[in-house]
Amino acid sequence: MVRDWTKSMLVATAACAVTAVASPTEFRCTEDTAPMQARLAYSGDNGMTVSWNTYSKLQQPHVRYGRNPHALSHLADSDVSVTYPTSTTYNNHVKITGLEPNTMYYYQPQCGNSTQIYTMKTARVPGDKTPFTIAVGGDLGLMGPEGLTTTTGPNGGTAPLGPNDSTTLQSLQSMESEWEFYWHPGDIAYADYWLKEEAQGFLPNFTVSDGPALYESLLNQFYDEMTPLTANRPYMVGPGNHDSNCDNGGTSVNGVAYNVSICPMGQTNFTGFRNHYRMPSDVSGGVGNFWYSFDHGMTHFIQLNTETDIGDGFLAPDAPGSSEGMNSGPFGSYPNEQIDWLKKDLESVDRKKTPWVIAAVHRPWYVSANNISSTICTICKDVFEPLLVEHNVDLVIQAHNHFYERNQPLNDYVIDPAGLNNPTSPWYITTAAPGHYSGLDKYLSPLKPYVVYAEDTAYGWSKITFHNCTHMTHDFVSSSNNTILDTATLYKDRKCNSENAQHHGWF
Ligand SMILES: *[C@@H]1O[C@H](CO)[C@@H](O)[C@H](O)[C@H]1NC(C)=O
Ligand SMILES: *[C@@H]1O[C@H](CO)[C@@H](O)[C@H](O)[C@H]1NC(C)=O
Ligand SMILES: *[C@@H]1O[C@H](CO)[C@@H](O)[C@H](O)[C@H]1NC(C)=O
Ligand SMILES: *[C@@H]1O[C@H](CO)[C@@H](O)[C@H](O)[C@H]1NC(C)=O
Ligand SMILES: *[C@@H]1O[C@H](CO)[C@@H](O)[C@H](O)[C@H]1NC(C)=O
Ligand SMILES: *[C@@H]1O[C@H](CO)[C@@H](O)[C@H](O)[C@H]1NC(C)=O
Ligand SMILES: *[C@@H]1O[C@H](CO)[C@@H](O)[C@H](O)[C@H]1NC(C)=O
Ligand SMILES: *[C@@H]1O[C@H](CO)[C@@H](O)[C@H](O)[C@H]1NC(C)=O
Ligand SMILES: [Fe+2]
Repeated sequence: MVRDWTKSMLVATAACAVTAVASPTEFRCTEDTAPMQARLAYSGDNGMTVSWNTYSKLQQPHVRYGRNPHALSHLADSDVSVTYPTSTTYNNHVKITGLEPNTMYYYQPQCGNSTQIYTMKTARVPGDKTPFTIAVGGDLGLMGPEGLTTTTGPNGGTAPLGPNDSTTLQSLQSMESEWEFYWHPGDIAYADYWLKEEAQGFLPNFTVSDGPALYESLLNQFYDEMTPLTANRPYMVGPGNHDSNCDNGGTSVNGVAYNVSICPMGQTNFTGFRNHYRMPSDVSGGVGNFWYSFDHGMTHFIQLNTETDIGDGFLAPDAPGSSEGMNSGPFGSYPNEQIDWLKKDLESVDRKKTPWVIAAVHRPWYVSANNISSTICTICKDVFEPLLVEHNVDLVIQAHNHFYERNQPLNDYVIDPAGLNNPTSPWYITTAAPGHYSGLDKYLSPLKPYVVYAEDTAYGWSKITFHNCTHMTHDFVSSSNNTILDTATLYKDRKCNSENAQHHGWF
């Protein structure tokens, strides 16, 4: 809900306050209502969802915002302040509508102090052909003493950080002026590693009963350290296995096999993930944070779900009883909902406005990895690939295997003979090397025949630049020193239709 603050106060006064709206002056701020973990998500080109956490429930969370940081004259509110039994906080979500596209606003979540006035820039209108750059990388976890750091436990992570290395978060922050939003296609925080970290002697205590508290502690440390990025740039997320993983349950310690019964609630059935984020599925016909799409300038972005809701009968890579014991979903209301949605979404794209179409999945199907625990999602390939090919999707971002791998454009395992020079098949890149407690994975040697470049010793993230309607560049940036380790440009032969954009005054 959105209103002009000044106006609504006048109306409320005149009508002798039928209103239940708590204005900022009526609301008592305490330590428990102080906003934490501010984060943004696009909601169409004239909206933005502002989310943040508090220790206590807010009856009517609100956000003040405006063009001028010294006069946040507008107010938006909602009644969404949600939590789950093992959580220590509430997740507040307020959707702001009626904003100007591609415009910088300032905002302050309810009870924010003077240091908590953040910036949000709305999405570019579809058809705006101005160049822009985004940052992408799946499988980004906690950095620091209880996550990825310079030391590991006795059986801990591979590739510890070098003593002078910047982390991916530091790298992203130092290059913040270059990217407009961060896209994180699954595996967020890795708080589900709590038992593994304890069992490997990385954390001092081994106390299974403390699991829920430790899980929430790792999760909150991650959310806190992401805040400088997510409070000022949209942070678009998708589902990964570690957002609903009882991998820990399969861990045997001193001969005791732990199963899903020890998993905190936030860790099962995507409960934490569903509470914490609000992706724009309401405005794109998708479902929750599981599948949705959004436009930004000349590009249509699609987030898919490889973890549940695939095909007839809700097949999923980690169906009940599988090694990872995910036992999650379904989230659609009928078996083929995600696939039907993808078909409809692709059919509705106006390529004159958004010539670029990019999809992100968590679990890959073209990658140089062993197929342990359904790492290679062949059933995802079966249902998604024909639609992605038919609709000439330009790029598929994959995650899940913790390294970087740039492939050729591919259709049903066949390399497109055009390469990057106007291919008719989607281009595939696996980018899942930002880092987490367990470090990096080794790619499988020899690499698959379709691989052009692979890197499994350096942490990094992807920087994708849309130059115009025919050229898009993908760079893999080393987090340790911000150098570009791999760069490649995709060319598509098509008419740019920029007259149309100019006519509408988009330049
Ligand atoms: C503002 O609030 C944050 C979060 O509660 C706190 O860390 C910070 O110290 C506060 N700053 C000021 C100036 O009060
Ligand atoms: C890290 O930086 C310090 C201070 O500049 C330097 O003395 C040290 O040799 C560096 N270590 C490595 C491993 O590069
Ligand atoms: C480990 O357990 C001890 C004794 O229960 C407790 O005092 C300490 O705070 C725990 N340490 C951590 C890091 O959880
Ligand atoms: C899981 O572990 C608990 C406690 O150790 C045990 O009671 C339960 O039977 C186990 N469940 C399964 C499905 O193995
Ligand atoms: C997961 O949550 C969804 C949505 O609430 C529910 O429909 C589904 O039954 C749950 N799945 C499991 C395995 O608990
Ligand atoms: C990977 O494993 C899954 C589950 O066993 C199987 O369905 C799929 O066909 C396998 N894919 C490949 C490429 O081996
Ligand atoms: C930057 O980091 C990469 C990956 O760690 C390394 O290979 C490269 O030599 C570094 N470059 C410079 C200029 O330090
Ligand atoms: C599109 O961008 C590429 C890369 O910057 C450039 O080489 C090309 O000339 C541009 N095309 C047009 C029509 O401006
Ligand atoms: Fe994963």
